[in-house]
Amino acid sequence: MAKIVTSGIQPSGKMHLGNYLGMLQQAVQLQDNPNYRRFYFIVDLHSLTGRYSPKEKAKEIYELAADLLAGGIDPKKSTLFIQSHVREHTELAWIFNTITSMGQLERMVEYKEKVSQGIAANVGLFDYPVLMAADILIYKGELVPVGDDQRQHLEVTRDIARTFNGRFGKTFPEPKAILTHAPRVMSLNNARQKMSKSLPQGCLFLTDAPKVMREKIMRAETDSYTEIGYDPVRRGAISNLVMIYAELSGLTTSQVVKMFKGVGYAEFKKELAELIIRTFKPFQERRAKLVKNRSQVMKVLEKGAKSAAPIAHVTMEEVRRKVGLI
Ligand code: ADP
Ligand code: TRP
Repeated sequence: MAKIVTSGIQPSGKMHLGNYLGMLQQAVQLQDNPNYRRFYFIVDLHSLTGRYSPKEKAKEIYELAADLLAGGIDPKKSTLFIQSHVREHTELAWIFNTITSMGQLERMVEYKEKVSQGIAANVGLFDYPVLMAADILIYKGELVPVGDDQRQHLEVTRDIARTFNGRFGKTFPEPKAILTHAPRVMSLNNARQKMSKSLPQGCLFLTDAPKVMREKIMRAETDSYTEIGYDPVRRGAISNLVMIYAELSGLTTSQVVKMFKGVGYAEFKKELAELIIRTFKPFQERRAKLVKNRSQVMKVLEKGAKSAAPIAHVTMEEVRRKVGLI
């Protein structure tokens, strides 16, 4: 039986290099494995937990679909759709709410960080990991390509699966994260924080113009050593740049360090910027075409929802029966 791969990405802001190296690249590579069945979705409902303008939101949803398609998600190999188009995600989330403790959600680092930044939390933000568990388990997902920041949320998913199975009989697998070699790309202007859409100054967006990419890399934080090196603990900033170079070139970090031995930071950064620009040129061209062809993108998403919905429906029927709903 095919293993089920599931992953979701929020339509809130533009796709950055961390999203690409931590999640998208891997989701694309997994498409070549004939033993997997893949469900990738745009988690529009999750993205409503932050502040947004409805008009902007609709654009972000559709543009994220263009990003994913331009980035290599192939609708012939993967089921790509919008989360809210398959209603069972939210129905299952409700059932899961009733078996999840407040205490566990109160321990979520991402939630606590947002609250400590002064963001007025709504109940949806608090409940975010439960909806994520439903996204995965409604398809009985076993493998989840995500970045390192989602590990704790995935732990909640596993706990929910275990609790449900314990109370109502074996129903769900306990899914595992699959991480890349770059599970945590750091911010370009502060290597102690992860690159994140909520800190746009430190992001390299895949849609940035070449000039902007060059400027961002040339300005990126380094250190006061004279040679490049790879030591993520003591030299986080330069190690982050070396890792990005390695991931995009297919070399190992030690090969990159060797290759740039005796070369100054400015020269290395120039080479890195050109590598990034070269890598994402085809992506940018494909994306520009897709953004203009709205009906083609919407067709893909509708078809995706149509093929995901019957599977979600079967799981939901099983859950209803097991918990005693009639
Ligand atoms: P952001 O944190 O920028 O809002 P999302 O929450 O939309 O990004 O994340 C989408 C996917 O990209 C998730 O799988 C997440 O783990 C991954 N991801 C986000 N930021 C990074 C990063 N800096 N490094 C590696 N992976 C990341
Ligand atoms: N929580 C994820 C993030 O912030 C997005 C997400 C929602 C997700 N549902 C998911 C990821 C299911 C993997 C599987 O990035």
